[in-house]
Amino acid sequence: MKDFKIAGITLNNPFVSAPLAGYTDYAMRKMCADYGAALTYTEMESCESLYYSSKQTYLDLDATKLDKQNTKAKLALQIFGGKSDIVLKSIPLFEKNGAYDFLDFNVGCPVPKVVRQNAGSAWLNRPEELISLLKEMVKISSKPVIVKIRIGFDHFMDIVSLCKQMEEVGVQAIAVHGRLRSEYFMGSVHYDVIKDIKNALSIPVIANGNICETNFQDVLNATGADAVMIGQRAIGYPKVFEDMNRLWNGEKPFPTTISSQIQDFKKHLDLIFDTKDEHSASSIMRSFAVNYIKGFDNVKKYRAQLVHCETKQEYLDILNNMQAEKI
Ligand SMILES: Cc1cc2nc3c(=O)[nH]c(=O)nc-3n(C[C@H](O)[C@H](O)[C@H](O)COP(=O)(O)O)c2cc1C
Repeated sequence: MKDFKIAGITLNNPFVSAPLAGYTDYAMRKMCADYGAALTYTEMESCESLYYSSKQTYLDLDATKLDKQNTKAKLALQIFGGKSDIVLKSIPLFEKNGAYDFLDFNVGCPVPKVVRQNAGSAWLNRPEELISLLKEMVKISSKPVIVKIRIGFDHFMDIVSLCKQMEEVGVQAIAVHGRLRSEYFMGSVHYDVIKDIKNALSIPVIANGNICETNFQDVLNATGADAVMIGQRAIGYPKVFEDMNRLWNGEKPFPTTISSQIQDFKKHLDLIFDTKDEHSASSIMRSFAVNYIKGFDNVKKYRAQLVHCETKQEYLDILNNMQAEKI
């Protein structure tokens, strides 16, 4: 097993679950952690929202205490913001209200609403200001600061030198989504750029983009990265972490069946309905539903039903029917 430490903190394996806004709440993090993700990420949390007392941000931070109580994985709290002063002022508030191992700064989000605030990937257009901010963040944060980046905004830049500067100001790991902001989530991933970054740095580099149980070993080999970060493949398939751990240890993954997927769906329902109100939990689970049953025969009728559920019981009735009908 490859030794994988960030800032002296040992991670049990090189498998990281990515931050996914709208998905990686406590319930999904716990699903991924129970299947063996060594490091999970929160959804991105707004520094401004916290600074101006958003109730939802406080609720999200409160939920991080559950990770600490109930999972073995380490947790990265991901924050985003476009104004250096607010980012810095928010850090003590995050520390006071959340429980996490690493503070991750978002330098990759491509969404126009975020970019318009000069946050996320917009930082790639202000490298000097970004480095000054990270330097101050490292001083203020009592937790190790890590960064998740894209490799450029709308053109290839000297991302290797920017990453080196991050390392010099005390950033302890960098997760690299190997695409430009302008490439959003489409097209092939520039793993060669991740390799260049890895070769230039001493701190851990986490490779991200289009990675799943069938290609993670190739990506690790091609990039030399210390770890891989899995995003969309884990939506409705948290078992990807078990599959990768088993393959990593030279073992065959356990079979994935519609029955094992339904069991996971039910566990996910319990976790989310225990920690969120019925309306929010139902709506979030509608985005997972299709993925939990994707790729199996005879699920079309159920898929159409699941995306209309408004209560936990409605989900359970459909899943129980699926089990009874032995599809
Ligand atoms: C629905 C969705 C939400 C995302 N939310 C975040 C986020 O909050 N923070 C972040 O850094 N990246 C976010 N990302 C990007 C992912 O973390 C990841 O970098 C990207 O999806 C590529 O990895 P993948 O191919 O394994 O999904 C999001 C991506 C998707 C599809």
